[in-house]
Amino acid sequence: MIMVLETKSEKIMKVANSRGFFYPSAEIYCAKAGFWTYGHLGTRVKQKWENLWRKTFLSLNPYYFEIDDCVIMPEDVFKASGHLEHFNDPLTECKKCHSRYRADELIEKSLKIEAQGLSEDALTKLIQDNKLLCPKCSAELTEVKMFNMMFKLKVGATGQDVMYLRPESAQSPYLAFKREHEALRRKMPMGLAVIGKAFRNEISPRQGFFRLREFTQAELQIFFDPDKIDECDNWDEVKDYELLLYLHNDKKINKVKCEEANKELKLPRFYLYHAAKIQQFYLDKLRIPKELFRLRELSEEERAFYNKIHFDIELNLESLGGFKEVAGLHYRGDHDIGGHQKGSKQKLEVVDENKRYIPHVLELSFGVDRNVWALMDVFYAEEKERTLFKFPPNVSPIDVAVFPLVKKEELPTIAKKLFTELNYEFKAFYDESGSIGRRYRRQDEIGTNYGITVDFDTMDNNKVTLRDRDSMKQVLVEVDKCKNILRELIKGNLKFEDAGESLK
Ligand code: GAP
Repeated sequence: MIMVLETKSEKIMKVANSRGFFYPSAEIYCAKAGFWTYGHLGTRVKQKWENLWRKTFLSLNPYYFEIDDCVIMPEDVFKASGHLEHFNDPLTECKKCHSRYRADELIEKSLKIEAQGLSEDALTKLIQDNKLLCPKCSAELTEVKMFNMMFKLKVGATGQDVMYLRPESAQSPYLAFKREHEALRRKMPMGLAVIGKAFRNEISPRQGFFRLREFTQAELQIFFDPDKIDECDNWDEVKDYELLLYLHNDKKINKVKCEEANKELKLPRFYLYHAAKIQQFYLDKLRIPKELFRLRELSEEERAFYNKIHFDIELNLESLGGFKEVAGLHYRGDHDIGGHQKGSKQKLEVVDENKRYIPHVLELSFGVDRNVWALMDVFYAEEKERTLFKFPPNVSPIDVAVFPLVKKEELPTIAKKLFTELNYEFKAFYDESGSIGRRYRRQDEIGTNYGITVDFDTMDNNKVTLRDRDSMKQVLVEVDKCKNILRELIKGNLKFEDAGESLK
């Protein structure tokens, strides 16, 4: 019998599906590619990631706030934003079986070259010159045509209004800019964030959970005076901080201090400050190992026509075969506010320090779902007797699981009481079925940080066993101190070894 070894992606997907992280949407009918349901654990990871993102980026400036908006928007919005004309992916179709492919991806996979951003003609030529055929039935492929990725809706009883599902959350802050600028007393810079759904009719949403048709973005649009792009109030905080830059003409990761990037690479201080904060978010808060992180500069052909500076945040994900984009930092110039001023015929320019100007936009744009997958990839681990997710506490779905050693005497009653107390402040889980070893493994598999076991001694000494997921070390702690100890452990203020009496 031939043993087929599962790939890392398959292993993660198996745990994700079976344990309630995520699974195909509407799967009891006929699930469609690119649509996923977050289960009870995935929802917790997603919410924790979003809350950490909010805390990190909205605290950078007193005038960075979050708004919430509709996902269905009028056609005129997308005429002005350029999406109707430019939001296209290159499509090629099999002349025989009619399978459709994203031409640049097909070429990249077959020829191992970069093809993103090439024109229809250039892509067609590559397909024809290299005699690329349909991967399914080996028939010829059509010429490449651009395909608009927005979902079009007909709204109203007669369908008289053409509207679209927003393809990025970014448009909401641009549309709200005028009101919020007034409401926030005309302060600049001003930031408006949205964490919400975006929709794209992706041609090939095949990469499992990574390229979706309905997904969540966390985006912060910062409006500022273009003359002040090289100014930054908090520059001292980051000037000696080393960015991990992957420049497009260099193709390797370099450690570059912000000060050096400003002087040598001519990247503006306002941009670099936010790049440093993004890198710190990944390395310090999410604990992504340094070697898996890079800020990749996009070439002129790769970036959107309105982006003046564009670095993608990429993580090296074994399950996806290398560095993959999870976020971007885009200097979008006056494209957005200028475009909507023209499209809506409303005055959106501002008067600030006796100067009239169209605010420029710096955009921090994150795909939440991609980040959730990335966490599962980076923190997945296999050991002799178990698989686990080594999630840091700020993104793990469950903080602590409480177990009675056996279902005898007062043990379940004490354990349930402790569970109820802990579950108010933390996310706790109660489990009394199966051997204690199996219960630990089940929690390790989903990344629960700590386990607490109530045993017969607890009835005498009022102490329970606290177990650390990663080291599997155990310490004895008093029941009444569990809450404080967990709080300090989760905050990172206490080492596990110092949490109680060692049991090994
Ligand atoms: N507002 C700018 C914008 O939307 P983007 O590079 O198209 O820029 C930003 O998207 C982020 O959204 C990406 O870095 C990625 O993390 C996420 N994203 C984009 N398309 C996606 C898709 N089809 N499925 C899941 N995430 C996606």
